[in-house]
Amino acid sequence: MTNSAPTDIPLAEQVRVAVATTTLNTISRVARRFDDPLGSLDAPGGPADRLALHRSLLASGPLVRSRLGAYLTATHAGCHAVFTSPHASSMPDSGRSTLERLLDPTLRDGKGEPLSDSFISMDAPDHTRLRRLVQRGFTPKSIAEHEALVRRTAEELIDAFPTHGDVDLVDAFARPLPMRVITRLLGVPDSDLAMFDRWGEHLVTALDRPRSLREATDVHHTLLEIDRTFRALVAERRRQPGDDLVSVLAEQADGDVLTDDELVGTLSLLLIAGFETTVNLLGTGTATLIANRDQLELLASDPATHLPNTVEEALRYESPVQFTLRRALAPIEVAPGHVIPEGAEIVTVIAAANRDPLVFPDPDRFDITRPNARRHLAFVTGPHACLGGALARLEARVAWETLLRRFPDVTRWRVTGAPTDGPSQIIRGYRHLPMRFT
Ligand code: HEM
Repeated sequence: MTNSAPTDIPLAEQVRVAVATTTLNTISRVARRFDDPLGSLDAPGGPADRLALHRSLLASGPLVRSRLGAYLTATHAGCHAVFTSPHASSMPDSGRSTLERLLDPTLRDGKGEPLSDSFISMDAPDHTRLRRLVQRGFTPKSIAEHEALVRRTAEELIDAFPTHGDVDLVDAFARPLPMRVITRLLGVPDSDLAMFDRWGEHLVTALDRPRSLREATDVHHTLLEIDRTFRALVAERRRQPGDDLVSVLAEQADGDVLTDDELVGTLSLLLIAGFETTVNLLGTGTATLIANRDQLELLASDPATHLPNTVEEALRYESPVQFTLRRALAPIEVAPGHVIPEGAEIVTVIAAANRDPLVFPDPDRFDITRPNARRHLAFVTGPHACLGGALARLEARVAWETLLRRFPDVTRWRVTGAPTDGPSQIIRGYRHLPMRFT
């Protein structure tokens, strides 16, 4: 992370963010003391007992009101209703009160915000237009064409595993794999990989609320650095197109074209949305397989048959994105008689919805043959459904296929030390996972 002082940001904005982060930390701490579910979700690193919180939310029905004013929905039907509602806004600023704007903990320097300017934070019609233009690079067919690249990258990383057999799976495999795949898809030269790896280290906190002016500044500077790098890449590809994703996205489609700002915002989004999520699917998914040895052995007995559903069950069982936020632009009924009022902030607790017993019988059992595992909401659904789902599925399938081929004796696979949790409350996963395969 950059350690430079926040010189490019007006002092008044720095003071506002310092006050906002301190106030939000205090409110959150007090809320936790009163067992408020939003306070628990907002704990640094996530709730102390995630599963207990998710179970208690599910047992409380389709809608739970936090003392902080937001509404939480944890049921599968409730989350589904919000994700598909035309009244659920993804724009962070829509319907916010003046106080909420003042307490926004992200730094704004007036030059545009890399992530909130991308289409994940937009509503129709802007969202529809940008998503349509980007979607052409993410069709299942175009993603399938990248299988050889993912395979080559996975092999390369395993070749570099230490010969003594002890390996941190996150550092050596789960983290570099998605980062190298996305940078190679974008046509970033391999000489810049170290820079992207360094950013990757810190991007995990980009999706969370900053806890201090220091954190807000660090994230802001990293995002600006990414923005600058992508701006140069876009200019180069406009001059001299290649066969990479940036060149595809820079082309005109149906008489419409992404502007430089839109293209740069999209590339930052692809990097951030596609990276930390996939890291954690690979990390927690592998640990879950080892903790459920009968399932690992079943998978190893016939990977071709079981891998696709294993990926779905891993996404269901340990959702990399634990919750997302929306705002009700008009009342939203999530179940008969349960209505989120206009203006309310909504927290859709995906991780709990993926363990809703009304949809997934015996939800806490990890079962790679579960017939409806694919009904999980790990990629949400509706207009903002993850655009990179096919790529993430491909990466996980090829990653596990390659590990199983290179280390076929799964009775030797083991976790050799306590995994370290990542720092995020939105993204769930391990920062370190000490392992042996031989
Ligand atoms: C296991 C891996 C992944 C998970 C669990 C995941 C999860 C999600 C979720 C939950 C959302 C919706 C956020 C919201 O609406 O609030 C989302 C959106 C998105 N994801 Fe993923 N993602 C993954 C991998 C990827 C990859 C590999 C890419 C691309 C390289 C990607 C690109 C996107 C984009 C562009 C959006 C915004 C879609 C929109 O707003 O229309 N994701 N993802």
